[in-house]
Amino acid sequence: MPTDALKNSTPFLKVEGLGKAFPGSPEPVFDAVNFGIHQGEFVCIIGHSGCGKTTILNVLAGLESATMGHVFMDNREVAGPSLDRGVVFQGHALMPWLTVRKNIAFAVRSKWPDWSRAQVNEHVEKYVALVGLAAAIDKKPSALSGGMKQRVGIARAFAIQPRMLLLDEPFGALDALTRGTIQDELLRICAETHQTVFMITHDVDEAILLADRILLMSNGPQARVAEIVQNTMPRTRTRATLHHDPQYYRIRNHLVDFLVARSKDLSHGRAPAQPLVVTPGLDPEPEPEPSPRSTPVVEPIPLRRIA
Ligand SMILES: Nc1ncnc2c1ncn2[C@@H]1O[C@H](COP(=O)(O)OP(=O)(O)OP(=O)(O)O)[C@@H](O)[C@H]1O
Ligand SMILES: [Mg+2]
Repeated sequence: MPTDALKNSTPFLKVEGLGKAFPGSPEPVFDAVNFGIHQGEFVCIIGHSGCGKTTILNVLAGLESATMGHVFMDNREVAGPSLDRGVVFQGHALMPWLTVRKNIAFAVRSKWPDWSRAQVNEHVEKYVALVGLAAAIDKKPSALSGGMKQRVGIARAFAIQPRMLLLDEPFGALDALTRGTIQDELLRICAETHQTVFMITHDVDEAILLADRILLMSNGPQARVAEIVQNTMPRTRTRATLHHDPQYYRIRNHLVDFLVARSKDLSHGRAPAQPLVVTPGLDPEPEPEPSPRSTPVVEPIPLRRIA
């Protein structure tokens, strides 16, 4: 969706003043977290370990409750888990005693309890094929590689046709090659299905490849979404072409600079409650600091002697 249209429409998912304090801790892990996600948008969140990303995702999934604020999906407050939201956890969380087919069929039957066995089977086979695992459909998770298990997790989340997909570092444990292949698959499936996605990642390149917008979270305690970076590169970007676009380096430098230099200074609620929206490389250049050389030399005015 073009940026202007996004600005003017109501977000599909709205997060308002979200905060979480765990018992026994003097300060909340995060507070005043505000952002929205539009239908069909792919949003990534990046921030240092422990700032509260998984907790936010769990609150969006309805698996955990916040201590402050609200989450609305399609104008209804999220108050518990729902098959409207598909979650892919960092560990694949498959049932080890069931085959790929049965793992996914279990989720499909929960969503459509009235479907016949043949209907369920056809649906499962379609989604297993989508992630390229047709040949492994009757294998148990123990007979699959780590990357294949992750793909089963993704197929299972997609198979229930959730209105919102929530991904917690789904590729964290994969080697670079497998990761790249699955990223490409995810991009293709999202383009085909216009899926709305919220994804946690630690990998800035992954975020630039996949996300339309990247939420930058400051460090905790009292972490916040400090900035929202618009990905100004065309959606047709691929892993092979990404680094040929000068805009890639501007966005990447901005993300790395935030994580390395700025995120820690914004802990303890020093980040703005309403995140700054930035377009690295396209924002007007800030006024340069006057350097000592360019500062006009003010000649001291000689004091007149009073005769
Ligand atoms: N059940 C709990 N009780 C107390 N503290 C908790 C609980 N769950 C999480 N925390 C704390 O909340 C903070 C945020 O945890 P969370 O798992 O959301 O971080 P994260 O940003 O996902 O980190 P990572 O990048 O390492 O996955 C951490 O400091 C953690 O210790
Ligand atoms: Mg986490």
